[in-house]
This record gives sequence, structure tokens and C-alpha cells, in this order.
Amino acid sequence: MTTPLLQLERISKKFNDGEGKDIAALQDINLTVREGEFVSILGPSGCGKTTLLRIISGLTLPSTGKCLYKGKPVNKPSLERGYVFQDPRLFPWLTVLENINLAGGNGEELLKKMRLSEFGNAMPHELSGGMAKRVALARALAPKPSLLLLDEPLTNLDLALRESLQGELHRIWREGVTCILVTHDLDEALELGTRLILLSKRPGKIYRDLSIDLPFPRRFVSEQLAEMKCQIKEWMEVQ
Ligand SMILES: Nc1ncnc2c1ncn2[C@@H]1O[C@H](COP(=O)(O)OP(=O)(O)OP(=O)(O)O)[C@@H](O)[C@H]1O
Ligand SMILES: [Mg+2]
Repeated sequence: MTTPLLQLERISKKFNDGEGKDIAALQDINLTVREGEFVSILGPSGCGKTTLLRIISGLTLPSTGKCLYKGKPVNKPSLERGYVFQDPRLFPWLTVLENINLAGGNGEELLKKMRLSEFGNAMPHELSGGMAKRVALARALAPKPSLLLLDEPLTNLDLALRESLQGELHRIWREGVTCILVTHDLDEALELGTRLILLSKRPGKIYRDLSIDLPFPRRFVSEQLAEMKCQIKEWMEVQ
């Protein structure tokens, strides 16, 4: 069997609360992700979702446990693992195109893909929230990552933009980028994922790991999806 893209083994993370007490953010996370998966991660606010993505990216080290990427320990960030942060974090003194090209040279092409071609020379403060998110996504894609880590990239966007960006994420995944998407939105998790991970309240633990083996586009297979949704909602209520 080939080496999985990502292996998390008994990962736990504790933070210091600044007053000498430990806050357990994640507890005993075991997760194997293979190339070609689209993993949606759903969990209540504060359960450690961002912490988990940061550990996978190498921005944060776990307190205990191992994180392996292509079989090697992760101890620092790498452009192979693209990261779209919860807020867009563009450099305000660089143009849109310069922001994207920081990590790769195919900015023009990515701008076109994100339908932002006319905004290459704009400054980040001139963009709407949704446009800034698309630029952040383009920037993460510029170095052609094999894994894309997405921290609620579609939160706070209007419905039309959400749908168009969901389509974009689906296409990116289809083109061969393995995706891990953190979201609060069950519909979004079910519409995009080939797999759904449910995390409990802090400290975050995996309490369900489901394969979503339904064809795309998902909106139109609503009966099975609706059944799945009801079941998941029940599980989430008792957590
Ligand atoms: N650098 C840090 N120092 C101290 N505590 C931290 C730090 N980062 C995260 N935490 C704590 O760890 C817990 C998990 O935080 P995290 O940001 O991972 O949650 P989340 O699931 O992403 O939340 P949200 O859904 O609101 O984005 C929280 O209690 C948070 O306060
Ligand atoms: Mg978060």
C-alpha cells in the first residue's frame, strides 16, 4: 500500500492560558488522509479546528503525538501544504497580483480562474470581503500545493458568492489537490466532502468519521443527503 499523504497519530495539544493553567485544545486525534480525498471537518466553535489545521501545516507543533506528511515528520510550514486562513491576511502594501505571486509565478492565470482579472493592480483594501478570500485562495494555490488546508474560507460570504466559491473548491479538488476543509456549515461539508469528520466540544476529539460516497453535484441527490443530515444533526445534539 502506498504511503498516505497525511498521518496524525495520537495528536494532543495543550495551551497555557497565561495564568499557569493548561487548556486542552485537542485530544488523541488519529487521522489518515489519502491523496484525492476531500475531508470536511465540522465542530463547535473553540473545539480546536484551527489548531488542527495549524498542526497539519507545521505552524503549530503538537504537545504529544506525531504528524507525518508523505511519511515524514512535519515540523515547519511548507508550500506543499497550502493554507487559506480564517481571515484573508493579504499584505496591505502589495497589489493583488503581487500578493499572489509571492509564492509562485502564475498569478495572472490564477486571477483569471478566480474571475478577478481586472483586479490584479488593486490594493487589498479596495477589495470586498469575498474578493479578498478569493485572492487568499489564489495565493495558497500559486505554489501548486498537493494539500490545501481551508479554514472556513466561505464563512460570512453572501449566498451567490458562497456557491460560486464552493464550485471553485470542487474544481480545484477535481484537478488533483487533496483538500481539508474546516467549516461550521453542515450543508457545505456534505456538499463538498468525500469524507466528514465530526469533532466534539473542546478538547476536540474525533467522534465520527464518515465516508460520503455520493455523486456530485450533491444538491440534486437530496434524499440520501437529507437522511445523512438528520442523522448527523442527532449526533451533534448529544455532544
Ligand atoms: N495560541 C494560543 N494560546 C492559547 N490558547 C489558544 C491558542 N490558540 C488556540 N487556543 C485555544 O485553543 C482552543 C481551540 O482554539 P481553535 O482556534 O483551534 O478553535 P476553533 O475550533 O478553530 O474555533 P472557531 O470555530 O471559533 O474558529 C480555544 O480554547 C482557544 O482559546
Ligand atoms: Mg478556527
